[in-house]
Amino acid sequence: MKEYKRTLVTAALPYANGPLHIGHLAGAYIPSDIYVRYLRLKKKEVLFIGGSDEHGVPITIRAKKEGVTPKDVIDRFHYQMKETFKGMGISYDIYGRTSSETHEKLASDFFRKLYDNGKFIQKTSEQYYDPEAKMFLADRYITGECPHCHNEKAYGDQCEKCGTSLSPTDLINPVSTVTGCKPVMKETTHWYLPLEQYQEWLEKWILEGHKEWRPNVYGQCKSWLDMGLQPRAVSRDLDWGIPVPVEGAEGKVLYVWFDAPIGYISNTKELCDAHPEKGSWETWWKDQDTRLVHFIGKDNIVFHCIVFPSMLKAEGSYILPDNVPSNEFLNLEDDKISTSRNWAVWVHEYLEDFPGKADVMRYVLTANAPETKDNNFTWKDFQARNNNELVAVYGNFVNRALVLTQKYFNGSVPERGELTDYDNETLKEFADVKQNLENLLENFKFREAQKEAMNLARIGNKYLADTEPWKLAKTDMKRVETILNIALQLVANLAIAFEPFLPFSSEKLRGMIGLETFDWNQLGSIDLLAAGHVMAKPELLFEKIEDDAIEAQIQKLLKSKEENEKKAAAEKPANPIKANIEFPEFEKLDIRVGTVLECQKVPKADKLLQFKIDDGLGGRTILSGIAAYYKPEELVGKQVCFIANLAPRKIRGIESQGMILSALDADGKLAVTTVEKQVKPGSEVC
Ligand code: 2FM
Ligand code: ZN
Repeated sequence: MKEYKRTLVTAALPYANGPLHIGHLAGAYIPSDIYVRYLRLKKKEVLFIGGSDEHGVPITIRAKKEGVTPKDVIDRFHYQMKETFKGMGISYDIYGRTSSETHEKLASDFFRKLYDNGKFIQKTSEQYYDPEAKMFLADRYITGECPHCHNEKAYGDQCEKCGTSLSPTDLINPVSTVTGCKPVMKETTHWYLPLEQYQEWLEKWILEGHKEWRPNVYGQCKSWLDMGLQPRAVSRDLDWGIPVPVEGAEGKVLYVWFDAPIGYISNTKELCDAHPEKGSWETWWKDQDTRLVHFIGKDNIVFHCIVFPSMLKAEGSYILPDNVPSNEFLNLEDDKISTSRNWAVWVHEYLEDFPGKADVMRYVLTANAPETKDNNFTWKDFQARNNNELVAVYGNFVNRALVLTQKYFNGSVPERGELTDYDNETLKEFADVKQNLENLLENFKFREAQKEAMNLARIGNKYLADTEPWKLAKTDMKRVETILNIALQLVANLAIAFEPFLPFSSEKLRGMIGLETFDWNQLGSIDLLAAGHVMAKPELLFEKIEDDAIEAQIQKLLKSKEENEKKAAAEKPANPIKANIEFPEFEKLDIRVGTVLECQKVPKADKLLQFKIDDGLGGRTILSGIAAYYKPEELVGKQVCFIANLAPRKIRGIESQGMILSALDADGKLAVTTVEKQVKPGSEVC
């Protein structure tokens, strides 16, 4: 593998149209942060570039819905995301934004250079236009009937009910969501990047040159290439975005996926311009000794592996990504994370609900990282990993080593005497940790790497459990000194090994043991803490998470689920009217009014109520499945309508002689039908 001088790490720029959820963290941000922290600890030259993606239609849709400007939306979420990233310890060198002037200029110049060098083709085609709003409609601004499942609210790019990708012209009865009118087809001209011209080059570069890419990334690229690449439009008719810098292109902006990846470059420029000691942005982007690595989620693969590299190649002066580690998706409690269904753990809420526990979420998301396939987050697993791993293994070992040192040596690191065979065996086990960790981290196997770091804590725990220094303290203090010295060296190693994964805990631990220098290359050493060095009073590194905190989170999710079901029920169209019947058929029904004399629950039947009705004819019993909606006593004395000539049926051994009529609405609300004025029991409803 080529030795590079420096590494430029980017993490996908999230859209500034909503808060971050744990799927975002698991997809790109925690892995990239682990990698960067590791490189920094190794004293490598590295920059970590992030920022908000502030263009694109979803932002304009949100603004329209809220009656605010797109700028209001991006300002709100840019700052919120920036804070959230900070709270989670994502250590960007810069968190920029694509609405910056630097970005607008760089993206605009980039487009212009490609345009001047004839790298685009210009095509005129017919697209949907809203004649009332006088605008071309982005795919998301058009809804209509899905040709596959007949969902009437499918979008121009996708039907969210059956999941099919659509193009606006597939929709039956398309409607503009801007004005509600029927859109018309109108000619418009756009610039396209002719990707087919890069097909051969991409095949060579990726399929032959980057076989080491993760199988999910390589496989997706291969399937795109096997299908054959097509020209891709790089402009849009929209009033939110970077204007196309070409005469006669009024009302057109750069397609968000054209400008967003250039955001990595402009954010680097902004950083380097403000901090010249970091070098020039062009060295980071144009020098062949820079290694570029993009961390992304799987829905971004094609843009980072095919489209952006083709743009860079077309421009000609930039380096290309050396790797694009992409994760698959993270599900939540066995269901797809969904912003629109509010099925998510919002990171800013997590940080509020679990203050000081950013590392716990980092740990759990890495332990369950969807590195090769989709994975699942559950609150129970979160609790178990905290209590059984962070607290019981890592925290417990550290605490035991520090508390024993406090107890026997007043917090001063004891001398290490002669080592026993068992000591040597333990040290041998831990000698490989550094190399193993490096191999895994260099290959983006963060999940296994974290396991390896935890293994170090397991070694430590076992060592203390086996050597039992608390027992030896009565007989052999010299031996206790050696054991605790070794245990403390392991503790110091843990602070280093876990830093990329659990930075807040490492910092706390470092403070407690007073580990001044902090360097990856010290990993594996048993001389990190000198004898006689005095440590601070120990505190717990991790705390147990109790059931009620987890239950509260589960309840929060269940509430979202309930609200969603209600919403879905409300949106469900009313049941279609049944086929017509003739009057004589209607006349066959004998509907009467009766007074409820008694009402009680039917034992062992959750849904059933048993009524005694005064029907004016001596009374009758009717069973009705409405126990979820009424308490029996609420109905006594009410007059209800019932079908008097329905053939009697036995339910749960009780004969039901008729049927009480109720109304059930789409929200699942039920009400028995009654009469507006008191009438004699047995009156006919006609
Ligand atoms: O999927 C997304 O959230 C995009 N905003 C990612 C853009 S990554 C890069 F190109 F900026
Ligand atoms: Zn559909």
